[in-house]
Amino acid sequence: MVVNVAIDGPAGAGKSTIARAAAKALGYIYVDTGALYRAVGVYVLRQGKNTKDPDAVAALLPEISVELKFLGDVQHVFLNGEDVSTEIRTPEASMAASAVSAVPAVRQFLFDLQRDIAKKNACIMDGRDIGTVVLPEAQVKIFLTASPEARAMRRYKELREKGAEDTYEQVLEDLNRRDYEDSHRAIAPLKPAADSILVDTTSLTLEGAVQKVIDTIKEAL
Ligand code: DC
Repeated sequence: MVVNVAIDGPAGAGKSTIARAAAKALGYIYVDTGALYRAVGVYVLRQGKNTKDPDAVAALLPEISVELKFLGDVQHVFLNGEDVSTEIRTPEASMAASAVSAVPAVRQFLFDLQRDIAKKNACIMDGRDIGTVVLPEAQVKIFLTASPEARAMRRYKELREKGAEDTYEQVLEDLNRRDYEDSHRAIAPLKPAADSILVDTTSLTLEGAVQKVIDTIKEAL
């Protein structure tokens, strides 16, 4: 069986940056499952439909094809053949992703795709329900978290670097709303798997957090 590492946790805990660096150091591919939900969210926005209307969202799924391709070690997400890797990172796409991820049909739609990648590749997969639902048999499960303020500050800096004008308060508010929605939804809510290892990055540097995750994986294997 190939090695599968599940990393779950709330938005802004540094999951993607940390998981990507750890995967590179260990020679695994890094799979960012949030990108899949974001691509579905972008499609629903483009169609002008309400991302919070489960029936409207589910009705669009037959029109959607989402694929992940790895160019070098960089993951790109394709929506009906179009590379939307940049477009999925806007704050609107974040909110849309959170909304569509609460629709059971969307989770079902993306489930096989995620399992298939994990079956074929030694990987670190990050998301919200990887250890609990998608890969319950993963050899290592990590729940990565940090305080809301630390997470909002990191997101805020990232957005500023990209030229966005959101204030810190807006980012914190969006993040708190998304945390609440992600952990209170009826289906696959964000919660640590019973056998997951908690890693809190609030007071760690990025390098420290990456090292801690690498050490945790090595020890667990
Ligand atoms: O990790 P992210 O911010 O790119 O995720 C975008 C949204 O998708 C987030 O609000 C929760 C949802 N998501 C999910 O429900 N399950 C996953 N495995 C990954 C993301």
